[in-house]
Amino acid sequence: MDRRVTFLLALVAFVLSADPNDPDLSQKAVIWGDGLSPHLSIKSVTKSTPKFSLKKRDGWNAKCTGYDACDSNNANGGLQVDSVYELGYEDGVWLPVCLCKGYVMDAKELGDTLAYVPLAIRSSVNKITSKPTGNGAYTLGNSGVYLGRYGPEVFIHESGHSFDFANGLSDMTEWIKAVTADTCVPDPYARTNKVEDWAQTAVLWTYMYRSGADNATLNNSTFSCWSNSRKFASQILPYTQQKQFDPTSKNIISLKKTGKSIGVASDNTTLIVGTSPRRFQLVSNSYNHVLIVDSTTHNGVDAYGQTNPNDRPILFGERNASKNQQWTFVADGQGYFKIINRANGLALDGCNDRLVFQKDNGSDCQKWRVNGRVSPIVY
Ligand SMILES: *[C@@H]1O[C@H](CO)[C@@H](O)[C@H](O)[C@H]1NC(C)=O
Ligand SMILES: *[C@@H]1O[C@H](CO)[C@@H](O)[C@H](O)[C@H]1NC(C)=O
Ligand SMILES: *[C@@H]1O[C@H](CO)[C@@H](O)[C@H](O)[C@H]1NC(C)=O
Ligand SMILES: *[C@@H]1O[C@H](CO)[C@@H](O)[C@H](O)[C@H]1NC(C)=O
Ligand SMILES: *[C@@H]1O[C@H](CO)[C@@H](O)[C@H](O)[C@H]1NC(C)=O
Ligand SMILES: *[C@@H]1O[C@H](CO)[C@@H](O)[C@H](O)[C@H]1NC(C)=O
Repeated sequence: MDRRVTFLLALVAFVLSADPNDPDLSQKAVIWGDGLSPHLSIKSVTKSTPKFSLKKRDGWNAKCTGYDACDSNNANGGLQVDSVYELGYEDGVWLPVCLCKGYVMDAKELGDTLAYVPLAIRSSVNKITSKPTGNGAYTLGNSGVYLGRYGPEVFIHESGHSFDFANGLSDMTEWIKAVTADTCVPDPYARTNKVEDWAQTAVLWTYMYRSGADNATLNNSTFSCWSNSRKFASQILPYTQQKQFDPTSKNIISLKKTGKSIGVASDNTTLIVGTSPRRFQLVSNSYNHVLIVDSTTHNGVDAYGQTNPNDRPILFGERNASKNQQWTFVADGQGYFKIINRANGLALDGCNDRLVFQKDNGSDCQKWRVNGRVSPIVY
């Protein structure tokens, strides 16, 4: 089976409402009629990938029995779990790797291949699974399932679906406008719908970005028909936005007003402000938002649906990069940041013993110093 075929089989399994306003892409021209794979190799344009560690987790089988992994309780095609690993990238992305009985890609191979997925996209993936060779690869929620062996292009495509799901991307007016204005899509598979078009656009955009394509190439007659989609991708994926933080840096985050730092109570859930700091990694996600990931438990700071002043964020176990887990660090020019949640628009306030939300009002109770390396992402 060649790679083009695997692209054609890539499925997305979260259900879209059939919206009559969805753009019909079936008649669009294509950049390449024979798929992306003959024309681009992500490996050939990637200069470096993040290091990672793998730990076998014998107690984690339950994380892999669900329908978004081995599905071992389903008599119709479900598989027993063979083994589970914790995959931890140096840039703050940690996730379980599920190997089902008869798996094809082992944990190292999965880690190596997922490493080619840009951080902003990879940080939306919360689980990956290898199964025996079968009908392609698919994404359920934030989990990627690979039936057989695939390369970085398919991993970017599937992870692009997780990113879409976390951000509601393919329903965004900006995306629909972009694909409607463009006269072409990347390849025949992208004609399926706006969801698959995004996933193929993410692959092509990553290739163009990493290959250092200049404006003359991006705007030549091969690619100019796709320029609105490309511009949208450049905006939502943060390479061209502010490159604020080094995601490998493990930072202490402390308050201007009191000098106290964000910590975690022994329940691993409650966020406190005191004298026992935790270290957090600031991991790129959509636009210039970051996920705030605890370097000890690898869980993310999450608004958890809270929307009122005095509500509290928590450290939440399942990183899925939803808007509740996305934060903007707004620099005040004097070495401090306001930290604003994307879902509720509220600021993190530290003058209580516990971390709370307050209306963003410029108080020193809402100004934080990030004590660590503050420099651009490197891949
Ligand atoms: C992310 O996880 C939270 C908490 O379980 C859940 O409420 C939310 O729906 C999830 N979002 C996505 C996009 O998966
Ligand atoms: C490419 O074009 C964009 C806008 O059209 C411009 O902002 C950017 O500086 C250009 N890049 C180069 C390398 O010329
Ligand atoms: C546009 O640029 C690409 C990449 O350099 C090249 O393969 C393609 O032939 C160019 N198309 C035209 C019409 O010049
Ligand atoms: C791209 O090409 C079009 C038509 O040739 C031109 O009008 C436009 O200014 C070009 N854009 C860039 C960013 O070079
Ligand atoms: C909290 O997390 C640490 C580190 O992962 C772990 O060793 C400890 O058992 C956890 N505690 C609870 C109450 O879950
Ligand atoms: C900001 O809001 C907090 C919480 O409501 C309040 O205690 C504080 O006085 C306000 N600060 C300013 C400068 O308005």
